[in-house]
Amino acid sequence: MNPSADVQALSSIRVDVSGIEPGTQLTVKWLGKPVFIRRRTPEEIEEAKAVELSQLPDQDARNANIGPAPASDNNRALAVPGEEGSEEWLVMMGVCTHLGCVPLGDAGDFGGWFCPCHGSHYDTAGRIRKGPAPENLPVPTAEFVDATTIKLG
Ligand code: FES
Repeated sequence: MNPSADVQALSSIRVDVSGIEPGTQLTVKWLGKPVFIRRRTPEEIEEAKAVELSQLPDQDARNANIGPAPASDNNRALAVPGEEGSEEWLVMMGVCTHLGCVPLGDAGDFGGWFCPCHGSHYDTAGRIRKGPAPENLPVPTAEFVDATTIKLG
């Protein structure tokens, strides 16, 4: 059975990110779940890049766009068109990998996200660093379709 046109339309959305300032994030709902779209500051990026990968509880990038890969900051960020390897943008499902609560932004011991349900701390790349969550926040299928629009799905 093929999905009907309206179901197909919902499986992919476009988000205007032109109003997101560095150091802030937008939360959108996609497929019934929150998605965090964060425009990171240079400090947040530096902090994430400074982490030794061996310190990470989950070593996989969990990025649907690239498949299995080391959990480096670069492998989790979404590059803007024409700027290969740029790391300002981070797009992730806002669903804690422990039991599914929605983590809070700008919070926790690593300056990223904090899930208050059972105390999971994620860093500025959305990688789990402390607490019961087993995996990094997943990066969904996403791409820039122009300089200020991200397509999810
Ligand atoms: S659901 Fe997030 S820590 Fe348990």
